[in-house]
Amino acid sequence: MMAAPSYIPPTDGIGNPPSEVWASAPSLEALAACIQGCLACPLGPGRFRLVFGEGDPKARLMFIGEGPGKEEDQQGRPFVGKAGELLDKMIGGIGFKRDQVYIANVVKCRPPDNRTPTPQESQTCLGYLKRQIELIDPGVIVTLGATPLRELLGIQTGITKARGSWQRLELHRPIPVMPTFHPAYVLRQYTQEVRGAVWADLKAARAWLEEHP
Ligand code: URA
Repeated sequence: MMAAPSYIPPTDGIGNPPSEVWASAPSLEALAACIQGCLACPLGPGRFRLVFGEGDPKARLMFIGEGPGKEEDQQGRPFVGKAGELLDKMIGGIGFKRDQVYIANVVKCRPPDNRTPTPQESQTCLGYLKRQIELIDPGVIVTLGATPLRELLGIQTGITKARGSWQRLELHRPIPVMPTFHPAYVLRQYTQEVRGAVWADLKAARAWLEEHP
């Protein structure tokens, strides 16, 4: 077997990690090392820490959010703020521990003032996320909010309409995707209707995993 190419620091003055290296990264560690210094989009120079994602590298259930907030940027870990507390409860509610699932975001660097990442920022980062998904090879992905739905699946209809309906991500193989509301939205709209919708979506994801051991 040919040895995997090792990371070459960016030399193009733009800080774009070489795609031939990250696209064939043999492990999550290799991928993380490869993109650690990324300056390929305007978010790079503003970050304190790149938030790669975390969890079981062989998780059957993967959650994908939008992008790091202030606390995530400080700690270098996804979903550690208020929304993260709720995500932990959501994960627990369907019988998983946080370290049994994998949690990542569309963009790995914090957008200023927690704004939505632009399509250009998202698309620049998306290749890293796709390689990450291929390496984890989850049974089911749960997307959180409109951004992963739009950027990863190209679905523009909006989360209120799209949540709860199975989608499919065509990657190294088709992966079922259950879109649900972002936990930050649930915290803002803490109604029985919104919470009930998220619960139904999570139960559907769990049922799929149970039916496909
Ligand atoms: N919101 C997200 O979408 N991702 C995080 O990691 C934290 C908050």
